[in-house]
This record gives sequence, structure tokens and C-alpha cells, in this order.
Amino acid sequence: MKYLFKNALVVTMNQKSEVLKDCDVLIENDHIKAIGNISDEDKEKAHVIEASGKLLMPGLVNAHSHAPMTLLRNYADDMDLQTWLFEHIFPTEDKFTGHDIHIGTMLGIMEMLASGTTSFIDMYFYMDDMARAVEESGIRAQLSRGVTNPQTGSDFSEDKKLLESIEFYKKWNGAADGRITGAFAPHAIYTCSPEYIRAVRDAAEKLSAPIHVHVDETRVEHEDCLKQHGKTPTKHLYDLGLLDLKTVAAHCTWVTEEDMALLKEKQVTIAHNPASNLKLASGVAPVPEALKLGINVALGTDGASSNNNLNLFEEINLAAFIHKGTRHDPLLISAAEALTMATANGAKALGMHNLGMVSEGNKADLILVDLEKPHFKPLHNPISALAYSAQGADVCLTMVDGRILYQDGEYKTIDKEKVWYELDKIVKRIF
Ligand code: NI
Repeated sequence: MKYLFKNALVVTMNQKSEVLKDCDVLIENDHIKAIGNISDEDKEKAHVIEASGKLLMPGLVNAHSHAPMTLLRNYADDMDLQTWLFEHIFPTEDKFTGHDIHIGTMLGIMEMLASGTTSFIDMYFYMDDMARAVEESGIRAQLSRGVTNPQTGSDFSEDKKLLESIEFYKKWNGAADGRITGAFAPHAIYTCSPEYIRAVRDAAEKLSAPIHVHVDETRVEHEDCLKQHGKTPTKHLYDLGLLDLKTVAAHCTWVTEEDMALLKEKQVTIAHNPASNLKLASGVAPVPEALKLGINVALGTDGASSNNNLNLFEEINLAAFIHKGTRHDPLLISAAEALTMATANGAKALGMHNLGMVSEGNKADLILVDLEKPHFKPLHNPISALAYSAQGADVCLTMVDGRILYQDGEYKTIDKEKVWYELDKIVKRIF
């Protein structure tokens, strides 16, 4: 299948941050075949997408999410993380079935596709049901079974969650034409004993699998760890060897300078979640310092119950704003830096070198943004417009792996009415 985006304003997000006017882009099967000079033969064979008045850019990567938590959206708000998680979220999650997770994931995917996200990095449970939703919808995702076990001990070979993680990874890593990859996800240091983290780490290493983990999200987590282990959460995980594996560390809100040196040494990606951190009053991660050190910082939404949406354009906006505001320095985190976090840096978090930029040979994970809106005019600077003026709802087309999954409010692979119907049944049953 060939598509030709005609006369687009292309924001490449490549190293030179090139913006190309009235540009044609040819897609062949799953990749970008040509930019600018398209042969007449290719033009004739391609399905044309008229893109004048529209902006073509790489699809966004949500580097930390829990997609099925859409089911808990606006359910338990305005409380601190520990109360929210242990008194409201965990008890309700216990009532979820695999079917609920499938529908909740589908709802999350619908929201992500409609606001320009083409890949997401997620940890949750009932992972087969999540993976099926990813497979059916056509989106790209790195998935992992989030595991918890506070018990100490040395033998976790019968641990149900760890066994599920291993089974899930073997079954789904590389599935759906490579759109699904797997990872291991020890939830956090306050839900997993050190011995358990080491067991999960060893299982992941055996399979050469990456790691997705919550790190140093709140002051409580930071101070408890100092009291209990005499070191910071990052140093604790470093000493356990977890960071030796390719790791995405969500939050890192309270990391110290020494911690950041360790994260840099181990080439860990920080998944920065500004909205979730603000809503739960967890704090503001030291992202300017992390970027200065050369740490890869990507952006995530976290779950929809601590955000309360999966709109990455909002995270781009917040990532650019909160550091300026809290440090009284308008030069911190430029529009281009915030956009890079949501695109190229997200691709690095996924370990994909052919994603996150509009460049020939890269995967055709692309979005079109409709510029014919009052808030885009006049268009003095497209990069600023994307970081400071764009809304998720401006996305009018979302393509993953060369397939159009969403266009002008319609889903090509998802039956919206069916998701609404099933969702209604779930909500009536659980709440
Ligand atoms: Ni999270």
C-alpha cells in the first residue's frame, strides 16, 4: 500500500529541526519511502491524502501510561498518592476482569489515537487482554505485567506475577508485525522487596528484556527509602543491578544530582509525567538538569486517573511551562525540546532507531494536524504552535506502521459504539 501526503507542512523533528513547506511525503507499506522528490510512477500508484493547510509530524510516544486506568477516570480525585493508590485505586482494580481491561485499553487507545499518540509504554495486569487490544487496534506499544511483592526471601520461582511476566514476554514480544514488544515491570520500590526486584531483574536479563519501573515519584517514597535502606531509590535500584538493563524510569521527581549521574551512566530514560506529578502534588522533576547531563527524557501521561486524560499535547505544553514557572527562568525547556521529548526521545525510550522523526526509511508512524483553526493563525513558528497552541483534538489523521487508524473523527479498526456499550456495562457493574 502506498500513500502520498501532498503539500504538507512537514515538521521533521530531525536533528536539524527542519520544517519543510508544501512538501510531498510518500509512504510505502510500513515506512517513509521518500520526502520531497517523488517519482511520477510512485505518485500515480499512491493513494493521495491532500495535506495543504495541515502539518505532518512524527506520531507522539507516550513513555509512561496505564491505559486501562481510563476506567477509573475522575473516580478518585484530589488526594495524595498514597491515599489515592492504597485506599481507592488498588481495591477497585481488584474487581477488574480481563474483559474490563480489554475495553479499558481500547478506550485508552481511542483517546491516544485521536490526540496523536502512535506508541505507548505501559504496565498493568491482564496483559493478554491489553495486548489483544493493541493487536486489534493497530497501535504500537511496549507492554509489561506490572508486578508487586513486598515479601522478602530468596526463592520467587513460584511467584504468580513473575511467572505471568515471563509467559507474557515470551508470547507477545515481537508480535503483531513487531508492533508489540515486551518488558518487565517491578512496580516500585515501595511495593517490591529488594529480593523480589532482583528476581524480576534476573528473569528479564535472561530474556534480554527491558525494564519499566516507577522511580522516586514522591517525597514519601524518597524519605522512606533513605530510612529503610540508607540510600535513595535510584541508588537502591542501581545497587540491585536493575539499571544495568535497558530501563525506562517513570517520574524521577525527587532524584538528586548523584542519582542523575547514575541514571546517565546506565543510560536510563526518564519518563517525565508533568500532569500526573502536579495533580498528585508529587513535585516537579529536575528535567532541565537531566537534559543538561545528556539523559534521555521522554514524556508520559501516567494513568488517566491521575491526569485525567491521555493527551500528550498537554504534557508537551506542561513540560515546557512548569520548569520555566517554578524556576523563574523562561529560557528553560524550549518548545523544540518539549516536542523532542514526545517524539525522538520517546522513540529512544522504546529502543527504536527508525521512529520519532520524519525521515526516509523510518517507520510510517505519523500524524496530521489541522492548521485551519483560529488558534494556529498566524503561523509565525510551527514548532511554537505545536508546543504552545496545539490541542490534542487538532489531530485529524493518525497513521501507525503505514496504516491509517484514525481520520477525521473516525476509527478504522475500532468499533466505537461497541466500546461505549461494553464500557457502560462495566461501569454499572463495578461502580
Ligand atoms: Ni504510573
